[in-house]
Amino acid sequence: MIEYRSDTFTKPTPAMLEAMFSASVGDDVFKEDPTVNELQSMLAEKFGMQAAIFCPSGTMTNQIAIKCHTQPGGEVICEKMSHVYIYEGGGIAFNSGCQVKAVEGDYGRIKAHQVLDSINPNDIHKAKTQLVSLENTANRGGGSCYEFSDIQEIKEICLQNNLKLHLDGARLFNAIIAKDDNPKEYGNIFDSISICLSKGLGAPVGSVLLGKKEFIEKAFRVRKVFGGGMRQAGYLAAAGIFALENNIERLALDHLHAKQIAQALSKKEFTGEMMPVETNILIFQVKGNYNAKSLTEEFKSNEILVSAISATQIRMVLHLGVSDKMVNDTIKVIEML
Ligand SMILES: Cc1ncc(COP(=O)(O)O)c(C=O)c1O
Repeated sequence: MIEYRSDTFTKPTPAMLEAMFSASVGDDVFKEDPTVNELQSMLAEKFGMQAAIFCPSGTMTNQIAIKCHTQPGGEVICEKMSHVYIYEGGGIAFNSGCQVKAVEGDYGRIKAHQVLDSINPNDIHKAKTQLVSLENTANRGGGSCYEFSDIQEIKEICLQNNLKLHLDGARLFNAIIAKDDNPKEYGNIFDSISICLSKGLGAPVGSVLLGKKEFIEKAFRVRKVFGGGMRQAGYLAAAGIFALENNIERLALDHLHAKQIAQALSKKEFTGEMMPVETNILIFQVKGNYNAKSLTEEFKSNEILVSAISATQIRMVLHLGVSDKMVNDTIKVIEML
């Protein structure tokens, strides 16, 4: 089976497993796991941020950040298809007692004027706007990337209105590679950044939250409350270190593969509107003789796994488990359908 349902399906390679087996470990709840400490320092340093905390998942790093930045009764501004809003089990309400002002963006990206228009006035009838959360790349935007200048404009609005700025950077390295951005510029602008190691970077588990020292100290407390304190987590952190050392530059290959498959799909009758392919995610409408479910089944009978993300949309995600040969085989199947 060729796996395109998500980049979360990646499995550790023998070399990554070797790094995991030979990790030095300690009790990370006591902050005594040297490998976790190394991973945290490595990412903080890469983004020029003061501190970092290793967590089991991207949902947890996002939710901890939102909890640390807000007070109950507050409001969070984010795009209407953003992961923090629609895919984290109502966590913003459940964990932080906040509500969301959902903004309709352009392939998952919002603009500074939309943030400005979404800020509530200082009126006792209204929730206090406290946080802006961006997603880069935007998953449901087809892996779209922000222009850094747009983020800078949003930051200006946040500064003028005393709002914190969080980044769900589950796939931030895909954006950095695609746009040739500098990680330190991200570190300079965001109050917190969540980065997933378990997606295109190929680690089996783990996300890291970055921020100022005081913020991350608060995050350690919230992680404990959320049940996310892990003990000999260095075995997992070792996979993260391996991923950062070996799997960032190769993301460009996943982006190329996504474009190659998109080109083959664009020639087919059954392909309707396709979101612009900027990174490793490809989302297209299905039309004609197929719907999303029947085309998914057709792919499956040809040993290709894709996701029907709505009745009319299919998503395919490229990652390090998909080789050049697998992409060529997929293109042959597409041509045959
Ligand atoms: C944009 C985005 N943010 C956060 C997450 C959450 O990550 P996790 O599955 O590790 O909780 C995902 C997962 O797919 C995601 O796509």
